[in-house]
Amino acid sequence: MKDIVPSPPPLVRNAVAAVQALFQKYVVPSYGRFELAFSHGSGSYLYDVAGKRYLDLGGGIAVTTLGHAHPAVTEALVEQSRRLVHVSNLYYHEPQGRLAEAIVAEIAPGKVFFSNSGAEANEGLFKLARKFGHDEGRFEILTAFNSFHGRTLAGIAATGQEKVKKGFEPLTPGFRHVPYNDLDAVRNAISPATAAVLIECVQGEGGVTPASPEYLLGLRRLCDEKKLLLFLDGVQDGHFRTGRFQAYQRILEGADPKGLFQPDGISMAKSLGGGFPIGAFWVRAPYADLLGPGMHASTFGGTPLGCAVALKIFDVIRQENLAGNARQTGEFLRAGLQELARRFPSVVRDVRGLGMMLGMELAPGIPALPGDPAKPQAVRFVNALHAEGLLTIPAGANVIRLRAALNLRQSEAEEGLKMIETVAAKVAK
Ligand SMILES: Cc1ncc(COP(=O)(O)O)c(C=O)c1O
Repeated sequence: MKDIVPSPPPLVRNAVAAVQALFQKYVVPSYGRFELAFSHGSGSYLYDVAGKRYLDLGGGIAVTTLGHAHPAVTEALVEQSRRLVHVSNLYYHEPQGRLAEAIVAEIAPGKVFFSNSGAEANEGLFKLARKFGHDEGRFEILTAFNSFHGRTLAGIAATGQEKVKKGFEPLTPGFRHVPYNDLDAVRNAISPATAAVLIECVQGEGGVTPASPEYLLGLRRLCDEKKLLLFLDGVQDGHFRTGRFQAYQRILEGADPKGLFQPDGISMAKSLGGGFPIGAFWVRAPYADLLGPGMHASTFGGTPLGCAVALKIFDVIRQENLAGNARQTGEFLRAGLQELARRFPSVVRDVRGLGMMLGMELAPGIPALPGDPAKPQAVRFVNALHAEGLLTIPAGANVIRLRAALNLRQSEAEEGLKMIETVAAKVAK
């Protein structure tokens, strides 16, 4: 593979300041960025432009399924790009059909629409709900407080967090929020205009909170009773991250022996392409033809190249049992973090999540946490971890997220825990 991946161009070998200067001058400043600039990666390690190595337990926020520069992904990209990168969705091609087949095989009979991102996958679900309820004048979608569903106009209206909406009013109508994990709240919020309910099975951006099995089963019953579609946003918690293809399958293990729970739609993106941008939604068979020819489309949705990469990722996950690894290594990480919570209660308050979808909640007012006190604790803690050589991701003011690659080794998990321990011991004083 060496000759296929040439060494990075000279610019990326320059100091971080040079790269930052380009951003300051030419890139819209819509992201709060850390003072890091990366040039390349390998497996679960990333290297910055000065050559410092970081263990990547952030995984590009649940994207780099197989880590960085995985030879199978490189090979799929090279092989498919030699054959066919793009054809319009005016035509058929095999990789899209095969990828849809692979997704359906993991869930239940249905069909798949391909997009480029998670927000677009959710937009597809919103349109499905509107089409489903249209003739009865139903259009409203109930979502949860603290949810996150993307940054498009409908995405921010769907998201149950004020901070993403502020300044972009008037918001797209048709979304209301209810408390998460509270079935009565959903029941009480249903109006004659309601068409669907959308939740994350593990709230990601909102602080890593899993749904309870009772909530999921209750939502299914309620949606059946009220003739509503039940949608899951699997953009962050999906694709084997929890140890099963979708997080509901993991949460309901042992709680739904007859397999009564089936969602009506699931959005996905992130880990699906392992870093190649591709999104999708799956829709259950009875509703699979609701969006007919001409009703929904995307120029780049499901290109031969994107689908070939996603198919290769499926193959590697199966061959190497990476779902099992996500479960086991995730459990190892979780146990390690719980131990830190026990030893450093003034630093770690709680540990939540499933598989490689973990959250470590910081205790309020950590005594010796360095950094600007005006900045959230989570950001300051993540910065302290950077100094040790570890990448993690803040969620809200106090949660540190771990979204490692599904092939993270136990030795790498140990190394990450050690670095978190070092920081915890320093700031606990
Ligand atoms: C649960 C969830 N839904 C949707 C999105 C939006 O995905 P994208 O950034 O690919 O548009 C995200 C992104 O973080 C997410 O976590």
